[in-house]
Amino acid sequence: MAEKEVEFYGNAKNYWETIPPTIDGMLGGFPEVSTVDVKTSLAFLRPFLTTHGGNTPNNRALDCGAGIGRVTKYLLTSLFNQVDMVELNQTFLNQAQSYLGDRKNKVDRYICSGLQDFVPESGRYNVIWCQWVLGHLTDEDFVAFFTRCKAAIVPGGLIVIKENVTSEERDFDQIDSSYTRPMSEMISLIKRSGLKIIKTKKQEGLPPGLFAVYMFAMK
Ligand SMILES: C[S@@+](CC[C@H](N)C(=O)[O-])C[C@H]1O[C@@H](n2cnc3c(N)ncnc32)[C@H](O)[C@@H]1O
Repeated sequence: MAEKEVEFYGNAKNYWETIPPTIDGMLGGFPEVSTVDVKTSLAFLRPFLTTHGGNTPNNRALDCGAGIGRVTKYLLTSLFNQVDMVELNQTFLNQAQSYLGDRKNKVDRYICSGLQDFVPESGRYNVIWCQWVLGHLTDEDFVAFFTRCKAAIVPGGLIVIKENVTSEERDFDQIDSSYTRPMSEMISLIKRSGLKIIKTKKQEGLPPGLFAVYMFAMK
């Protein structure tokens, strides 16, 4: 790996090691965003599922950059029989054990790994959900990761991205070592990964001053 990338990934890992394993920590000091976020995600994802008239079975989902399991707890375990979590920081996965409460029964694998290194098991998932983590990947690793994800979803499966998007140029945050990309770059990286966007939606109801947040469902 080039020195620049070692630094990019190393700085992010160090940053997350300073963050408490709480909802406040996961959401950068905006814990109040969680309720509207989950509500909108549920409304976005549900119509795709066979349980709600769609084509995607609800056997197993993967939560990428799962943190302590906020998305797993409130979104994925409410829709799927089993959920795997992949997360860079072991402290967050340890905290998930108590944070998830009885939803823990539905979590199968807790995988401690950076997405840049992670190879999801082929044909294992109906839905792969990636939220507020992809800014921590370089463009090359973004494309390589989603190319691997494509092989990990079963027929009828979906990959969903929910990320901040800039209205101007790509923004680099020195503090947590992450990029916020403009829409055009997101779309171009998704295409390079061999995926097709089938639905997008903007997250409404966020406090002023935050980046815009968009969801992309892809096949
Ligand atoms: C902003 S938090 C979001 C957590 C969760 N997705 C949510 O919405 O509540 C970002 C998470 O991504 C994790 N992370 C950072 N870089 C990562 C990487 N390269 N691979 C996997 N996880 C990473 C952090 O440790 C942190 O848990």
